[in-house]
Amino acid sequence: MQKKLSKIAKDTNFFLRKFISKQKKSDLIVAMKYGLFSGGKKIRSKILIDIGFLFKLNYRTLIIIGAAVECIHAYSLIHDDLPCMDDDSIRRGKPSAHIKFGEATAVLAGNSLLTMAFEILSHKDLKINEKIKTTLINRISESSGHLGIAGGQYLDLSYERKKISKKKIEEMEIKKTGKLFSFCCVAPLIIKKKNKKDIKKFENIGADIGLLFQVADDLIDYKGTLYVAGKKTGKDKKKGKATLISLLGYKNTIKYANNLILKINEKLIKYGPRTKNLFETLNYILSRNK
Ligand code: IPE
Ligand code: IPE
Ligand code: MG
Ligand code: MG
Ligand code: MG
Repeated sequence: MQKKLSKIAKDTNFFLRKFISKQKKSDLIVAMKYGLFSGGKKIRSKILIDIGFLFKLNYRTLIIIGAAVECIHAYSLIHDDLPCMDDDSIRRGKPSAHIKFGEATAVLAGNSLLTMAFEILSHKDLKINEKIKTTLINRISESSGHLGIAGGQYLDLSYERKKISKKKIEEMEIKKTGKLFSFCCVAPLIIKKKNKKDIKKFENIGADIGLLFQVADDLIDYKGTLYVAGKKTGKDKKKGKATLISLLGYKNTIKYANNLILKINEKLIKYGPRTKNLFETLNYILSRNK
């Protein structure tokens, strides 16, 4: 698994470095590169590639779309760590972007990474049909805005130190994390011009994968260590974050996560042995400690 992830990270970073090097220079580039190349796992790209494999998509196309997703993800982390949000000083074992460059630079580098995703998807080097491109850009925009990451982050912050129902916590986690995973799960079907029903099905699978990912992240915060996780742990409790762990307890949350994997398995049974890579990734998501 680690080998597969490293290859995806290498290919994605190579594409992004080249993409940036072809642009004019600016003073924000250093902070943007810090957010992009400080050692993320590239799990979203891996999911995109695993789903792409089910539909026999071209690897290079998937790497480019994944690069756009990773730009949005990197932006979301820079902003998530800001003092006005989670106020975290360490990310991926290094000082958070605002600690290293100051808050204003971190905000602006984050904004620039968000818009870079749209530059990548609309670029002529991404050789897919223009109509499909527009649909992809429309989808990824929706995943990032008030119905996705930004909206979910808003809920995450407004739920601090409040008693929140299970349904509302799930909805918040699906927005802040699940929507971008949903995009990764539907992009291959959009490119292959699959029908609405199949697209909806994979959108829901993406939401489940995102929820699984966020629950695993919450478990790392609960049980993990700064040294291994590369970020401060025990912070969700300190900040009074509404998580499934705070509501159901540690053991029940692990059961909940395992049930999510079973649920995803049922939905994908008809795709047979080609789903092996995806399930390897899902088991990694739950068992990881960083
Ligand atoms: C962390 O995401 C933030 C969440 C959405 C839970 P990742 O764990 O994918 O972060 P990196 O990119 O690997 O550091
Ligand atoms: C972040 O969730 C979700 C985002 C969309 C950025 P967390 O706040 O739990 O992520 P970490 O634990 O700081 O990485
Ligand atoms: Mg947060
Ligand atoms: Mg955080
Ligand atoms: Mg967390």
